[in-house]
Amino acid sequence: MQETTFVMLKPDCVQRGKIGRVISRFENKGLRVSAMKMIEVDNKTASIHYKEHEGKDFYEPLLSYICSGPVVVMALTGDSAVKVVRKLMGKTDPKDAAPGTVRGDFAIDISRNIVHASDSQESADRELSIFFDDEEYLEYHRIEEEWIYP
Ligand code: CMP
Repeated sequence: MQETTFVMLKPDCVQRGKIGRVISRFENKGLRVSAMKMIEVDNKTASIHYKEHEGKDFYEPLLSYICSGPVVVMALTGDSAVKVVRKLMGKTDPKDAAPGTVRGDFAIDISRNIVHASDSQESADRELSIFFDDEEYLEYHRIEEEWIYP
């Protein structure tokens, strides 16, 4: 089923020059970038995005980290996009993330785990609405979609 999920390339990804390599993983799999921009996240937006973690010991450091430098936010669309992106990304703690996943290959510290992606379609809808307006989604088709969805 066609889904659209939310992905954020975090400040460590941007500052370590991995933007292109991480996006390539998603593009190579066959997902379509349907919206994308580089932004700086303010504290209020970060607190809305990460509200499920409020009160946890890593919450305040997480907010200040996400606000510490530019991030790239994107919407990725494709067959089972939520699950596919989570698999490509690997486990939250890069030490447990399998080799071949983004976190398994590019990160080692849980607080600098390079990328965030929605864990369900419900989260994706909520997170996409925080970062994107309707007019920011652009319509086009990847060639693969013509044979997957004739
Ligand atoms: P993310 O997928 O963006 O969701 C919440 C983030 O909190 C997580 O990735 C980690 O970067 C960060 N974090 C820091 N410490 C922890 C922890 N002990 N457990 C889970 N997430 C943590």
